Amino acid sequence: MATSAIPLTLVLILCFFFFFSFTQSTPQLLGKYANKPRNLSSSSYKYETRYFTQRLDHFSFHEYGSFSQRYLINTRNWVAKGPIFMYCGNEGDIEWFATNSGFLWELAPRFGAMLLFPEHRYYGESMPYGSKEEAYKNNTTLAFLTAEQAIADYAVLLKELKHNLSAEGCPVVLFGGSYGGMLAAWMRLKYPHLTIGAVASSAPILQFEDIVPPETFYNIVSNDFRRESTTCFNKIKESWGALQSMGENADGLMQLAKTFHICGELKSSDDLSDWLSSAYSYLAMVNYPYPSDFLMPLPGHPIKEVCKRIDSAADGTSVLDRIFHGVSVYYNYTGAVDCFKMDDDPHGMSGWQWQACTEMVMPMTSDPDKSMFPSFKFNYTYEQERCMRSYGVKPRGRWITTEFGGRDFKTTWKNSGSNIIFANGLLDPWSGGSVLQNVSETLIALNTEEGAHHLDLRASTANDPEWLIQQRTSEIRLIEVWINDYNQGRGSALSM
Ligand SMILES: *[C@@H]1O[C@H](CO)[C@@H](O)[C@H](O)[C@H]1NC(C)=O
Ligand SMILES: *[C@@H]1O[C@H](CO)[C@@H](O)[C@H](O)[C@H]1NC(C)=O
Ligand SMILES: *[C@@H]1O[C@H](CO)[C@@H](O)[C@H](O)[C@H]1NC(C)=O
Ligand SMILES: *[C@@H]1O[C@H](CO)[C@@H](O)[C@H](O)[C@H]1NC(C)=O
Ligand SMILES: *[C@@H]1O[C@H](CO)[C@@H](O)[C@H](O)[C@H]1NC(C)=O
Ligand SMILES: *[C@@H]1O[C@H](CO)[C@@H](O)[C@H](O)[C@H]1NC(C)=O
Ligand SMILES: *[C@@H]1O[C@H](CO)[C@@H](O)[C@H](O)[C@H]1NC(C)=O
Repeated sequence: MATSAIPLTLVLILCFFFFFSFTQSTPQLLGKYANKPRNLSSSSYKYETRYFTQRLDHFSFHEYGSFSQRYLINTRNWVAKGPIFMYCGNEGDIEWFATNSGFLWELAPRFGAMLLFPEHRYYGESMPYGSKEEAYKNNTTLAFLTAEQAIADYAVLLKELKHNLSAEGCPVVLFGGSYGGMLAAWMRLKYPHLTIGAVASSAPILQFEDIVPPETFYNIVSNDFRRESTTCFNKIKESWGALQSMGENADGLMQLAKTFHICGELKSSDDLSDWLSSAYSYLAMVNYPYPSDFLMPLPGHPIKEVCKRIDSAADGTSVLDRIFHGVSVYYNYTGAVDCFKMDDDPHGMSGWQWQACTEMVMPMTSDPDKSMFPSFKFNYTYEQERCMRSYGVKPRGRWITTEFGGRDFKTTWKNSGSNIIFANGLLDPWSGGSVLQNVSETLIALNTEEGAHHLDLRASTANDPEWLIQQRTSEIRLIEVWINDYNQGRGSALSM
């Protein structure tokens, strides 16, 4: 299912209409897009690329060796004693995140800040064992791919870089979007002595165990479609049954391949269902108010466009034809795609799959009363068996909350945490797993009704709506407060 946006993801078997089975994949944050090769040479963001030798295992004294971690640095605006703004790299090439986080680049001159973008281990060029092939070989080589190790990499890098630059006193503000936002928030909670605050944008740090209802993700995606048009929502809901029954025989599969302009043969209608449902989930994530090219080239308000095509087809157009026209907005907006590949890299293992099979166990369910997706339930036993079969590992579904907390966060983080902004756009399906309420004076939720996946971290544009400008302004004010508080605290400590 790799083209289906979410490569070889948690494929769940579910019962659909009582006798057919249906597969459904759990969305994986940025999914395959995190690994997409990109042309960055036209980028206007200038940075120096450096490499730093990191210990492979921070948490034991056994010598497992080291690897070379890539980081990008820009000191052009950095003033004496100025802050360090560090973006916590997430599951992909760090250059992609650096060039899609224009907000930081705009802040640097204003704050006299250094920008630092360390890459997450096992992604991009930061491969242990010398190559991706070796690093991804088996469960022994992958064992060091965890969020805790990645955060420790960032901490070690920060300490040493500050030492090298005699910048020990410079305050560090963390940033991150999506999984990077989770890392930023967790790092702030775990390393409060190294950082003064964190901006965690679209970070679903509560999407674990049963802290939030497991159906929240698909309900939000579904509501994003329903708010544009009820008929569109209903057509999508209707389409799964039509797809499933056509997929039951070879003729039907051929017909489906034709209707959906699929390259080559369609092996099962499940592949097509996955491909469609990932398009809907990703559309909800990048439902930005202006044209963008983060995951795919898309018009502004892309869900509105999809629904327009589904709704405006001539009377008598079949439901599947309507769906094809709708989803073409996502997969073929440029009109340059000859045919759709359901499956461009079926065996390629992505790092996120490993992470989802170990610590990042995010239970998701589709509730047929509220969602436009087929009904399914998260089955932890099934997941364990699948991960054991695929990678010889057993997920530890309770580990993340043991390590970082999350349950009862309103009391626990209120007491132990400070200076974190949880920024969310409520159209983003991941917002359901994030912190949407103010927890304390310094653990702040900044929500926008019309925002999507970490829109605030993107560069400003002439088309920015007022609510987005306001969200960014609030973030800037809070960062100013953190830095001023830090400098005042330091001032009084020094004068003692
Ligand atoms: C990348 O973009 C630059 C500038 O837009 C262009 O000159 C170059 O040919 C592109 N490279 C590839 C491989 O597409
Ligand atoms: C994993 O691969 C490494 C390197 O090829 C090998 O030494 C190790 O025994 C393998 N481990 C497992 C569990 O297969
Ligand atoms: C700090 O300096 C040492 C010695 O020059 C160098 O080996 C190391 O890579 C530097 N660390 C960082 C994080 O740049
Ligand atoms: C993509 O769009 C173009 C222009 O509308 C069309 O000619 C082409 O057939 C479409 N590709 C697919 C795979 O549907
Ligand atoms: C969950 O999966 C296991 C293993 O595949 C299966 O035996 C069990 O019946 C499933 N439970 C439900 C409620 O579907
Ligand atoms: C690694 O996978 C093998 C099977 O491929 C399994 O026997 C072994 O227990 C796994 N090791 C770990 C540490 O999970
Ligand atoms: C949290 O507090 C800030 C003021 O510090 C306010 O702007 C914001 O709207 C509050 N967030 C929520 C979700 O109420």
